[in-house]
Amino acid sequence: MRRCRGDKDDSDKLVGLLRLAQIVSFLVVFVAGVVIGLTTSSHINRHFNSHTDVYTLINRVSNSIPGVKEENCTIVQGCEVDCFSVERFLNPNQKNLTHSLSDDELFWRASFVPIKREHPYHRVPKVAFMFLTRGPLPMLPLWERFFKGHEDLFSIYVHAPPGYKLNVTNSSVFYARHIPSQAVSWGTVSLADAERRLLANALLDFSNERFVLLSESCIPVYNFPTVYKYLTESDYSFVESYDDPSRYGRGRYSRRMLPDIQLKQWRKGSQWFELNRDLAVYIVSDTKYYNLFRKYCKPACYPDEHYIPTFLNMFYSELNSNRTVTWVDWSMGGPHPATYGEADITDSFIQSIRNNGTLCPYNSGITSVCYLFARKFAPSALEPLLKLSSTVMEF
Ligand SMILES: *[C@@H]1O[C@H](CO)[C@@H](O)[C@H](O)[C@H]1NC(C)=O
Ligand SMILES: *[C@@H]1O[C@H](CO)[C@@H](O)[C@H](O)[C@H]1NC(C)=O
Ligand SMILES: *[C@@H]1O[C@H](CO)[C@@H](O)[C@H](O)[C@H]1NC(C)=O
Ligand SMILES: *[C@@H]1O[C@H](CO)[C@@H](O)[C@H](O)[C@H]1NC(C)=O
Ligand SMILES: *[C@@H]1O[C@H](CO)[C@@H](O)[C@H](O)[C@H]1NC(C)=O
Ligand SMILES: *[C@@H]1O[C@H](CO)[C@@H](O)[C@H](O)[C@H]1NC(C)=O
Repeated sequence: MRRCRGDKDDSDKLVGLLRLAQIVSFLVVFVAGVVIGLTTSSHINRHFNSHTDVYTLINRVSNSIPGVKEENCTIVQGCEVDCFSVERFLNPNQKNLTHSLSDDELFWRASFVPIKREHPYHRVPKVAFMFLTRGPLPMLPLWERFFKGHEDLFSIYVHAPPGYKLNVTNSSVFYARHIPSQAVSWGTVSLADAERRLLANALLDFSNERFVLLSESCIPVYNFPTVYKYLTESDYSFVESYDDPSRYGRGRYSRRMLPDIQLKQWRKGSQWFELNRDLAVYIVSDTKYYNLFRKYCKPACYPDEHYIPTFLNMFYSELNSNRTVTWVDWSMGGPHPATYGEADITDSFIQSIRNNGTLCPYNSGITSVCYLFARKFAPSALEPLLKLSSTVMEF
């Protein structure tokens, strides 16, 4: 498809074309009137020659105004846009992720699933890396190094506070990857809304096959090819989902969710999920169960820790591994996990996250690779991590 530049005059040109279209339609109505008049008259033969002249004129005029029938597509100077091209359908907003859909409109559109399994284009499955941030992304240089050279195999989405812009140049893979966002208040349903908004925006790209939710304090602990293969070849999604009998698990269940959600179906899990495309579609398409969480899961119940684990457990548990691929250290106790800074970053620490001797189920077998990502890392950890990324993490 042709790439076109210089859209400054687009609107002027569009107005011009619309005027021309108006003139042409008047002309067509006028000519039609003349033709009807002539054909019903008894002097057809006498006027036959001027009749064909008029048709020639109409053809000439319509050929000179290409694209008029696509009046509401962007008409880029010097070329005509085909609104119905597959490329345009697959890639509606090429420059950035801006759109004016409301959440309801977005979730509806994101829920579209083609029935036909074969694609009329070469589809390379991509992994969508979805960053839910409260502002800056301190680990950005590490992520850029991780992504380098694999541009065709991933897409990035950033949900930052409204108005916040990452300070990156147009050469960064994070450039223009903000989705239209809304304010998030931690612990409330707005956090789960933001997760669904990220999923829905990422679903608009039909190439995205796996969906990983990450925070600003997450790092990758394996290189891109390992992560890509691990996720795209997995039969299961990686959403932590377990039954916690304590007040921090079952204690957060509300009987007002009955009869739709029962206590025995209630699950807990880390918010940092990894989903395949089918599950992502089911989650953005659900209204019924989400509304129950919106109404009845309020602090000390946190929708981000219960909604997806419970929903998947109720309907799609056979598709979930029930474990997470994002490592975190809860060993200190308390409501927040440990945060690692500069002094903590050593070869052996990162090696112990990559492989601590534990084996994890993977498809029908087992693997020593249990975690692909880790949290939480303070901004001060960046420099030491960059120093050992090539030797320990192999990127
Ligand atoms: C084009 O867009 C305008 C304004 O959004 C709308 O009024 C008009 O009906 C649209 N025309 C077509 C052919 O869709
Ligand atoms: C996104 O691109 C559109 C044109 O495709 C432009 O009008 C808009 O200003 C851009 N938004 C941002 C935030 O860059
Ligand atoms: C953006 O980044 C550049 C280069 O990294 C830096 O010089 C500049 O101060 C940053 N701007 C802001 C507003 O942080
Ligand atoms: C990136 O930005 C630079 C300077 O701001 C500009 O010269 C260049 O054309 C831009 N490149 C692209 C691909 O937009
Ligand atoms: C995940 O847990 C559910 C029960 O909570 C179980 O039915 C399902 O088989 C588990 N998934 C795997 C892959 O073991
Ligand atoms: C390895 O990690 C798992 C999961 O975090 C933990 O349960 C296990 O105790 C660890 N094993 C060792 C030897 O540290």
